[in-house]
Amino acid sequence: WFLGMDVGTGGTRAVLVDEKGRVISSASEEHAPFRTPHPGWAEQDPEDWWRAALVAIRAAIAAAPEPRQPIAGVGLTGQMHGAVLLDKDGVVLRPSLIWCDTRTQPQCDWLTETIGYDRLIELTCNPALPNFTLTKLLWVKEHEPEIFARTAHILCPKDYVRFRLTGAYAIDVQEASGTLLLDVTHRRWSSEVAAASGIPESWLPEVFESPDVCAQISAEAATLTGLAIGTPVVAGAGDQGAGAVGMGILQPGSVSATIGTSGVVFAATASPVKDPKGRLHTFCHAVPGRWHVMGVTQSAGLSLRWLRETFFTGQDYDQLTAAASAIAPGSDSLEWAPYLLGERTPHLDPTVRAAFTGISTIHTAGHFVRSVLEGVAYSLKDTFHLFDGLGIPVSGIRLGGGGARGPLWRKIQAGVYGHAVEILTAEEGGAFGAALMAGVGAGAWPDLDAACAAGITVAETVQPDPAWLAAYASGYEHWRKVYPALATLR
Ligand code: XUL
Repeated sequence: WFLGMDVGTGGTRAVLVDEKGRVISSASEEHAPFRTPHPGWAEQDPEDWWRAALVAIRAAIAAAPEPRQPIAGVGLTGQMHGAVLLDKDGVVLRPSLIWCDTRTQPQCDWLTETIGYDRLIELTCNPALPNFTLTKLLWVKEHEPEIFARTAHILCPKDYVRFRLTGAYAIDVQEASGTLLLDVTHRRWSSEVAAASGIPESWLPEVFESPDVCAQISAEAATLTGLAIGTPVVAGAGDQGAGAVGMGILQPGSVSATIGTSGVVFAATASPVKDPKGRLHTFCHAVPGRWHVMGVTQSAGLSLRWLRETFFTGQDYDQLTAAASAIAPGSDSLEWAPYLLGERTPHLDPTVRAAFTGISTIHTAGHFVRSVLEGVAYSLKDTFHLFDGLGIPVSGIRLGGGGARGPLWRKIQAGVYGHAVEILTAEEGGAFGAALMAGVGAGAWPDLDAACAAGITVAETVQPDPAWLAAYASGYEHWRKVYPALATLR
């Protein structure tokens, strides 16, 4: 059996998977919510991730049916980009600034000016964005120099849990891509970026390919978890990389569209495809020798949740989508621009805000729900549009998250993307992908392609409805005019 662990934002999940890729058991433990002592800040305590990891591992093992197999490998994934600063003895120096902490725009501006916009994209494939780890380290350097002076190691969230499990300072190439310190093309740390930003290379953990074994469970962690001493631990990947593995998005041309709180369109690529305007993230894939690009819609599932909680209290999602099903595609020209939290892709605009446009007296509650489902799909379509412009192939699309669960949102997505969409039998998320990586590291499968072939099956393919295709092609062209108009309203 193999153990996959997902150190998320809300909690940590542990999943046990067998050598046929079947889920045996799983368990989760919540984290304390992140703290926001000032607007835009988001901090969590690494110790709380470790506490939750121990609870989740023990509970997943306890929930596994008899007869139990030995756990032959551990894989880790988790929320990306967070900065954990440790001293020379491995003691955490301050709470972690996590991925959604946006205090670091001044550090982004400094980096862009110091290294140069084009040079930064050349070296790291990405522009300086407040999500990325390096900008958080620079904030500590500027505002807490006494902590910066004591720093000897830096890690990302799941890598901190690995450190507690094994004592090793290690990271994988996919996670490291989101630090802005990796030379993404050559899959190694960028000495130039580290030197320009004053980060000693000795602080950086050793970089591994995702399915590679990089450490072993320590005696102390074995006592705390019930895992055997010396169990191999693979490098793993950040949540987007491991989630893609868990959905079988490995080959160039395969793409996922996942609607959770945010929405992510993720494509595997054969080479690092850079967007000169920095609107897509270009990272190393968890698959050795491959890369990926992804676009992020900040408020995807969040748009529907907000609508329900604000205007439809007491109704469940099925009631909402039943009302929306009765409305024709295009919602009779009612449109939703889903910018409740600003937008990442393609606008990189944290201050734009959401809007319904085109409201008239014919519009009913069902129209509002449908326009939200459509507006979120249009926003994900923006990423497909960038893929077209950059020549990134799309041969198959798999849906994930809440957006894959109901028949209406599936059919809307097929119509808006203009492409058949596949639904998987079970979507187990990043922890499942991390367990498959552990299986590859332990030798159960030769590579991730074989692991996914064993563990992932398509339940259904939804073809776009020809009548909806035309409505959504013209609907998208009209919807695209909304952002430039909103951008003038500050
Ligand atoms: C990826 C990203 C999120 C976080 C939190 O770029 O910001 O997926 O990893 O889940």
